[in-house]
Amino acid sequence: MDLKSKIDIENLPKHIAVIMDGNGRWAKKKGNQRIFGHKNGVKAVRDSVEGAAELGIQFLTLYAFSTENWNRPKQEVDALMSLLIATINSETDTLLKNNVRLLTIGNIDGLPKKVSKNLNELINKTSQNTGLSLVLALNYSARWEIINAVKEIIKENNNTSIDINSIDNEFFEGFLNTKNIPDPDLLIRTSGEYRISNFLIWQIAYSELYFTETLWPDFRRENLYEAIIDYQKRERRFGKISEQLN
Ligand code: FPP
Repeated sequence: MDLKSKIDIENLPKHIAVIMDGNGRWAKKKGNQRIFGHKNGVKAVRDSVEGAAELGIQFLTLYAFSTENWNRPKQEVDALMSLLIATINSETDTLLKNNVRLLTIGNIDGLPKKVSKNLNELINKTSQNTGLSLVLALNYSARWEIINAVKEIIKENNNTSIDINSIDNEFFEGFLNTKNIPDPDLLIRTSGEYRISNFLIWQIAYSELYFTETLWPDFRRENLYEAIIDYQKRERRFGKISEQLN
């Protein structure tokens, strides 16, 4: 039986988030520069997006560039920005063909003008698509997002006092970048690293975590299927006990 047919279509994760890791190590193993790993990472992005769209996953969030990634050597940062622009342009047709809607989270205004301009154009072009929502986390970090939310709350309530009792999860989530995006059901990290690296820390409170040794450039839709099958074996209790479920 092939992997895909083992997936219960009635119990799909609505939102899958991925920490794409291992591009540099993949390239090094092949005796190449790190950027070679990033370029091959785009193939993994394409296959995962197509695989997720085809299955009927509603949201796929990819951690493509963190606020901490600016600290990498300038040559690598510049190459990643150029790769982003090239990918946005080369993948436009694939996104349209697959009915994918592009969204972003992160400080997009803090990206080079050319990147933000290209991104906004593609966001507009795909805004009417009704299939998978592909969320690119760019110039993103969860602590930045949370601090930003606090600033936005203060700005919005300038000169007025906030009723403390009105502050609850729903209120706060309205100020996060992920407003209107459900929390991830499943978080995948590749490359055998077991950490969250400042990604969606508010939103993954009840996500199922899945770690794989596969390096990101080798990741394909079959690896996504494996993660989903593993997810479907888990019992999500959200603080309750087994007997209370269903
Ligand atoms: C982590 O691997 C990967 C990144 C920081 C960049 C991810 C970018 C891509 C996959 C290409 C472009 C993406 C899109 C969405 C167009 P690493 O460099 O930290 O690898 P290492 O841990 O082995 O050094």
